[in-house]
Amino acid sequence: MAVDLLLGLQWGDEGKGKIVDVLTSSYDVIARFQGGPNAGHTLEFEGNKHVLHTIPSGIFHPKAVNLIGNGVVIDPVIFMKEIENLAPYAIDFDQKLLLSKKAHLILPTHRLLDAASEASKGKAKIGSTLKGIGPTYMDKTGRNGIRVGDILAPDWEEKYQRLTKKHLALLNSYETAVDFDLKDLENSFFKSVEALRKFKLVDSEQYLIEAQKAGKKILAEGAQGSLLDIDFGTYPFVTSSTTTAAGACTGLGVAPNKIKEVFGIFKAYATRVGSGPFPTELFDKDGETMAKVGNEFGSTTGRSRRCGWIDLVALKYSIHINGVTQLMMMKGDVLSGFETIKICTAYKTETGVMDYLPYDIATQDIVPIYEELPGWNEDLTQMTKSSEFPENFKNYIRYLEEALETPIKIVSVGPDRKQTIFR
Ligand code: GDP
Ligand code: IMO
Ligand code: MG
Repeated sequence: MAVDLLLGLQWGDEGKGKIVDVLTSSYDVIARFQGGPNAGHTLEFEGNKHVLHTIPSGIFHPKAVNLIGNGVVIDPVIFMKEIENLAPYAIDFDQKLLLSKKAHLILPTHRLLDAASEASKGKAKIGSTLKGIGPTYMDKTGRNGIRVGDILAPDWEEKYQRLTKKHLALLNSYETAVDFDLKDLENSFFKSVEALRKFKLVDSEQYLIEAQKAGKKILAEGAQGSLLDIDFGTYPFVTSSTTTAAGACTGLGVAPNKIKEVFGIFKAYATRVGSGPFPTELFDKDGETMAKVGNEFGSTTGRSRRCGWIDLVALKYSIHINGVTQLMMMKGDVLSGFETIKICTAYKTETGVMDYLPYDIATQDIVPIYEELPGWNEDLTQMTKSSEFPENFKNYIRYLEEALETPIKIVSVGPDRKQTIFR
């Protein structure tokens, strides 16, 4: 049986959580493959609003198994908080939640190192979520990391002490000091690790191999977005994991030839939280309107998201790198009321016009070249069929499908599960 994959095509926060939740009724297993608590995936249904960070977005469905893969990095403290927040839903975690023993742990000192690294960069900071993501993946690839399975071994505390000692020495090497009370941080860390031991810690790749043999339907849930990918994103303003399709192979142990549908999800405009290049960013009333109507505040950090027009140069790039087979367009409702909608089709750079993402996008002066389409005024949020869409919104969708050479199969017109239109 094949594995389908859902991932963000922009700079994250496209609405992955919402759509995974909507699609879960058609799947047996929902699996996160990379990232960690830097993610904030929002779900809204039956008057509830819920933000998940580490736990896959299929957790609210009665049957699906939710799996946290080896490619994810887990902060036990944040993980346990998420579990506590789910208490009202009476979820049977023994049946429904599996964690890979190979996933790496975020230690308190990883978070401190993240803060020290950011402080030392001054104005050039990445704008990290300060969840310790970069330092944890550095320890993973540097072969110093501690994995979830390690907490079951008798020598686990020695491993922890060895790595923490190293981190403290590293922290000292930064000129900018970071204030912390390690004892306090360790108290909650060890309490959470104790609690984590009681969860189902498994060889998750083996679970997925068996699930595939048994004909189960698996959906891999991406975090962040393709433009934050460690290799293909707007480096160095990226996260530290492979957010693109290849990440599902390494982060779950799924072979490339087992991947079938690749769902690429994007907003009808563009947003970015944190620093880094954003060619279509708006600094005017239009940008303010998008931020206000779209409620563009980070689900994890509460920071304001920068807003701008849709960028087809970036979207085409993401579609190719991921092998996207179907598109999902989110937040079209936010654009109601704009007289004209702008679409970036190319970049004007110092060296000429470009229609792909250049290596030095972070340092080049890029001026977006726009096409304009007429806007629409109708409120889309109560619509239930695409035939109800205003003509100009239909035009916008048609334009994007043609330019991106990929069908848009879902159009989302509001944050609720129900505000989802299949085409
Ligand atoms: P994720 O990280 O990709 O899961 O996305 P986030 O949850 O961080 O951010 C998406 C935000 O947009 C959340 O607040 C969602 O509730 C909201 N949202 C999702 N789809 C829509 C939509 O179609 N319209 C509107 N207005 N809001 C949406
Ligand atoms: P979801 O899954 C949006 C951004 C941060 C920062 C950069 C590096 O909700 O879409 P990190 O903490 O990973 O070292 O930060 O990446 N970032 C996100 N932006 N959505 C996310 O996740 C993000 N995860 C990280 O703002 O610019
Ligand atoms: Mg988010």
